[in-house]
Amino acid sequence: MKDFEFYSAPKNANLKFYKLHDLDPKYLKDVAELLAEEWEARTAAGRMRVLEESKNSLPIHFALLDLDEAIGHIKLSRCLGDENAFYAESVIVSKSRRGQGLGTVIMRLSERYISEYLAPEAEKARMVLSTLDSAKFYQKIGYEPCYPMTKTKHSPMSEMYIRQSRLVTQEKTFITKYKGQDQYWLHKLLF
Ligand SMILES: CC(C)(COP(=O)(O)OP(=O)(O)OC[C@H]1O[C@@H](n2cnc3c(N)ncnc32)[C@H](O)[C@@H]1OP(=O)(O)O)[C@@H](O)C(=O)NCCC(=O)NCCS
Repeated sequence: MKDFEFYSAPKNANLKFYKLHDLDPKYLKDVAELLAEEWEARTAAGRMRVLEESKNSLPIHFALLDLDEAIGHIKLSRCLGDENAFYAESVIVSKSRRGQGLGTVIMRLSERYISEYLAPEAEKARMVLSTLDSAKFYQKIGYEPCYPMTKTKHSPMSEMYIRQSRLVTQEKTFITKYKGQDQYWLHKLLF
């Protein structure tokens, strides 16, 4: 498998999907601003620190660029207790570009990255996520209800991962509560 450089979007060669840590640091700021349009951070510096943590061994952040403009983002982490489950969060498309299929592009290219680079041998690799408002979007692109998972920064080979995985008790429900709101858990098996 050759080193990952970027993926191009299927129908628009100007749209490219890059690892954030492969890009010029200016894009970190652009992605931070994109996230700030939608979600408040405790501090802007804290958000930058999270983005700076992007690495091949996960958590990893991707940016969708239209030429040199950052218009989308996703973060992928590992899940405790299932080394072939990858947790997606902070999925965002810039406000002015929504409804044009770009969220779908971000999800499809992330699924492809998991299948090609993160779990190429796995028979049961899957993407897991939770959402308050966007369950319909994910269900349209093939996501189905699943039980909650806990994301981790640790590698499945590490003592910490093994120890923490033993402590996880999985809730047998598809909907949990987050700040009083229903939080829907969804996943998609990637073959
Ligand atoms: C959710 C989000 C990433 C979707 O991106 P997008 O580029 O607008 O999505 P797409 O254009 O690929 O949409 C695909 C389909 O899902 C539908 N859809 C998109 N967002 C939806 C939503 N929030 N609720 C219901 N349906 C939605 C679209 O109408 C489209 O349907 P169609 O195929 O019948 O036309 C985008 O709206 C966004 O950034 N929202 C704010 C951040 C957010 O809530 N992220 C999710 C966190 S879990």
